[in-house]
Amino acid sequence: MSVSIKTPQEIEKMRIAGRLTSEVLDYIGPFVKAGVTTNELDRLCHDLIVNEQQAIPAPLNYAPGGHTPYPKSICTSINHQICHGVPSDKVLKNGDIVNLDITVIKNGYHGDSSRMFYVGEPSIQARRLCETTYQAMWRGINQVKPGAYLGDIGYAIQSFVEPLGYSVVREFCGHGIGAKFHEEPQVLHYGRPKTGLKLEAGMIFTIEPMINAGKKEIKQLNDGWTVVTRDHSLSAQYEHTILVTDTGFEVLTVSAGTPPPP
Ligand code: MF3
Ligand code: CO
Ligand code: CO
Repeated sequence: MSVSIKTPQEIEKMRIAGRLTSEVLDYIGPFVKAGVTTNELDRLCHDLIVNEQQAIPAPLNYAPGGHTPYPKSICTSINHQICHGVPSDKVLKNGDIVNLDITVIKNGYHGDSSRMFYVGEPSIQARRLCETTYQAMWRGINQVKPGAYLGDIGYAIQSFVEPLGYSVVREFCGHGIGAKFHEEPQVLHYGRPKTGLKLEAGMIFTIEPMINAGKKEIKQLNDGWTVVTRDHSLSAQYEHTILVTDTGFEVLTVSAGTPPPP
């Protein structure tokens, strides 16, 4: 297993890619309303990334081993969809919760971040799931410092959400990121303290817990991408790209509209 330590020059490029990624999320938020289609959200983000940011939407045509190329520029995962929801002509309706996952490549480096958005007023249960998932991501982020272990991150997330009756998706995890979209290490959102890789300054990876209101089991849809909860319970996810610094961490996917830590 080889986890790269980024150079100061690479870190500066990752800051730029991270900011652009977060700015796409800032921009698209006001468009997430009842009546809009996820294809329209995809087109708006695509045009901003390509025309204004002069960057590349990493998901478009992304084809990791065994997958058919991803056909769109962003991921839009609604309600019981866990991740990799493919934009379509489906219309968002009042009460939906939707995860928008953005990955931008700028000057050869990737930023990767996602947030939950409410379409109108969510149910109390849906809001609580989203807020808990946001707190869970931050509990993970707050573990990050040199000498800490990846297992500390997973444990912080799992031990927070499971007593609330929620479950952690096992099949997808955070990941190293840099010149490649998905690099080592894998960042599990469950685990035991003081296990796994020891963190060092200069590592960059995502923390992106997928939390289900019901059971943890997943189902892969026939489009080859969309992943849903097997029991059709609601699912939520937040994601940031994180740098390990000498003293702790730096969130790279930040912009004017980034939600503050809980
Ligand atoms: N952005 C996702 C992640 O956080 C990966 C999406 S792959 C795609 O790792 F092809 F579906 F876009
Ligand atoms: Co990611
Ligand atoms: Co992502």
